[in-house]
Amino acid sequence: MLRKTVPLLLFPVLLLTACGEVEDTRPGQPVATRQKAFKAILQSFEPMGVQLRENRYEPETFLQQARMLHQLKDAPWSHFGPDTHYPPTKATARVWQEPERFTAEREGFLKAVDALLTAAESRTEERVKPAYQAVHDSCRSCHKPFRN
Ligand code: HEC
Repeated sequence: MLRKTVPLLLFPVLLLTACGEVEDTRPGQPVATRQKAFKAILQSFEPMGVQLRENRYEPETFLQQARMLHQLKDAPWSHFGPDTHYPPTKATARVWQEPERFTAEREGFLKAVDALLTAAESRTEERVKPAYQAVHDSCRSCHKPFRN
């Protein structure tokens, strides 16, 4: 299952890099680093959605993916330092203008990821589905104001 989906997910990423996007040349590459962290989050999250949508929930696989997402959930945030709103970022200026709201969105996401892991541990589809949806909603809720 993982073997099948991972190359598909990597493909658009490879295309993007091949198209010669602006490179992050700053020391420590904060923008590139947080973008990579978000991509890793997406790559653990998306296969869970595929399983649920295609009605082939596999409790053990799902649990592994939920554990992976849980490990990755903290990675992007420390790379949103002051003065890191520059190309190739897709973050909006509001990240730095409305730090309290950004923090609240992040906290909502982290809680939803915790709850998804707990649901996955129950190995029960009826519990996993709404928990997956809550994480999905938390991504969108943050991207709307804070990502272009
Ligand atoms: C608290 C806010 C927030 C949450 C929650 C959040 N994101 Fe994002 N995400 C961002 C911001 C801001 C960027 C833009 C980063 C940049 O380009 O500097 C981004 C960028 C991305 C990118 C693009 C990376 C790239 O290479 O350009 C992906 C993919 C992504 N997020 C997926 C997700 C997924 C999937 C979730 C939920 C499981 C999620 N994000 C949750 C704020 C958030």
